[in-house]
Amino acid sequence: MQRVRVWDLPTRLFHWLLALSVLGLLITGQIGGNAMNWHIRFGQAVLALLVWRMAWGLVGGHWSRFVRFLYGPSAVLAYLRGRSPALHSVGHSPLGALSVWAILLVLAAQVGSGLMTDDEIAFFGPLVPLVAGEWVSTATRWHKNIGQWLVLGLVALHVTALVVYRLRGHPPLVTPMLTGDKLLEAPAPASRDDAVTRTLALALLIAAGLAVTWVFGLSAAGGSGVY
Ligand code: HEM
Repeated sequence: MQRVRVWDLPTRLFHWLLALSVLGLLITGQIGGNAMNWHIRFGQAVLALLVWRMAWGLVGGHWSRFVRFLYGPSAVLAYLRGRSPALHSVGHSPLGALSVWAILLVLAAQVGSGLMTDDEIAFFGPLVPLVAGEWVSTATRWHKNIGQWLVLGLVALHVTALVVYRLRGHPPLVTPMLTGDKLLEAPAPASRDDAVTRTLALALLIAAGLAVTWVFGLSAAGGSGVY
């Protein structure tokens, strides 16, 4: 067995910060009222994390790059039949990748629609004053009635799949998302995870944070989103 760095530190921090922020979003969205101030902050955090992940999918560690978990239907079928090459189980497996893509895309749609959501009582997204009314009503309907349930469903599926996978005797997946390393039988390339890549990740996160601050400053509300 050999120990291989699969998830670099930036990817791990991204994952756990995303999980906490999404949890915060779901809870504050249900509470409403003054908790919506925190809902907006968590939304800003998720948006910055997703923008960061888009960049990290291009320049991040080996197994964090999008090309490493962009599988076609034949790879998914081969995985389901137990005929996948060993390399397809080092990072996200073809099946796991489907859930990762779904979570990332639905979260993007949820924060994107949040930017244009208007509750017509106290809070509105920073793009509300800048886009057509039809966009605002469609985005608001999606954000409140569909998107949040999709996010909840996908997160529940994500965690259930991890538990079922482990119960069926497969190696743990959560430990590598904490420590970064997997114990593998066959050699596999490692994700680079040193001071240089971590500094690059931090610089990208600062850039993502600045971009989000700019978006929230676009409307006259100055980014607070409060009437
Ligand atoms: C709101 C909650 C959560 C969200 C939104 C979420 C989202 C994600 C995303 C986007 C990835 C892909 C990471 C990347 O490549 O950048 C991922 C992977 C992963 N997540 Fe979560 N996650 C959540 C909760 C959890 C929890 C509670 C656990 C475990 C207790 C967990 C364990 C994992 C593991 C082990 C992987 C790697 C799966 C693999 O090896 O393919 N996640 N998650």
